[in-house]
Amino acid sequence: MGRLEGKVAVVTGAGRGIGREIALLMASQGAKIVVNDLGGNTDGTGTAMIADDVVAEIRAAGGEAASNTDSVADVAGGEALTQCALDNFGGMDILVNNAGILRDRTIFKMSEADWDAVIAVHLKGHYCCTRPFANYIRAENRTGCRIINFSSVSGLFGNFGQANYAAAKAGIAGFSRVMALELAKYGCTSNTISPGALTRMTIPLRENRGEKVEEDDMASGGPQHIAPICAWIAGEEAAGITGEIFHTGRGGVSIMQQPKIIKQFQKKTGVWSMSELDEIVPDLVAAKKANAIAANISAEPIEV
Ligand SMILES: NC(=O)c1ccc[n+]([C@@H]2O[C@H](COP(=O)([O-])OP(=O)(O)OC[C@H]3O[C@@H](n4cnc5c(N)ncnc54)[C@H](O)[C@@H]3O)[C@@H](O)[C@H]2O)c1
Repeated sequence: MGRLEGKVAVVTGAGRGIGREIALLMASQGAKIVVNDLGGNTDGTGTAMIADDVVAEIRAAGGEAASNTDSVADVAGGEALTQCALDNFGGMDILVNNAGILRDRTIFKMSEADWDAVIAVHLKGHYCCTRPFANYIRAENRTGCRIINFSSVSGLFGNFGQANYAAAKAGIAGFSRVMALELAKYGCTSNTISPGALTRMTIPLRENRGEKVEEDDMASGGPQHIAPICAWIAGEEAAGITGEIFHTGRGGVSIMQQPKIIKQFQKKTGVWSMSELDEIVPDLVAAKKANAIAANISAEPIEV
């Protein structure tokens, strides 16, 4: 019996790449899947019926799935997604907010349209899809649900040429922490994935550096490596694990630091003078560096 038997999962952007792998794995673990994808180009333009192909794959393997081609960037699209799960499978337990696009430019060249499109699909998309699901959880008192959100090292660490995408992805990590708080009462967890996988989103970056992507590379670094931790977080075994950020890819699974005060000085009275700050700020920066070194040591991969 699969880990997700009897569960209903909605996976956005599941027509290809990481989302498709999550949909296939969750289906193989017994979940009924709503495969959402509008089938756009990487920059968010265009549409195609690719969700149907993944539905067919799931059905051919003996699973149950329904297709949805709404945009996650619309409030109506997000509402249609929860409704699609209810209409086809009579409930909803898991939401994977995975759909995404890219419009990379430095700030010097980033148009308002590039900014808005990326914020709309990623950050607003998380709002559009999560709100109807959260309202359904509350109205039905549906306990034990799961929300899985997609961030990126781009937003968590920073990446040149991706101010729009990084702003959205850092915002998603914050959004996820708030969902963890607001839905805890219903036993619903909200966690964030920071993936690293070879997909049409990242392969061009490799190719632009003159590196060819071969079949072997897809086996060791393809999107299939992101799906297992997502399916695990969706299961009963992950009850109580919430508000976390898991980084995964290429066979690695890691948990990330959350923002936290490392060291602080407290002035008894008055406000800090410039000369006092001359004294203490280098001390704060040094404490942060020491903390980063300790984290680098504990983050050395443990082979299993
Ligand atoms: N591949 C990586 O290494 C990587 C790294 C960090 C973060 N991510 C994130 O992981 C997620 C999946 O990325 P991927 O690499 O599989 O990319 P991908 O381009 O292969 O897949 C994304 C899918 O989302 C769909 N989509 C786009 N806009 C949509 C919309 N408005 N409504 C519904 N569907 C829409 C696309 O049609 C596409 O099929 C994204 O959120 C991405 O930002 C990926």
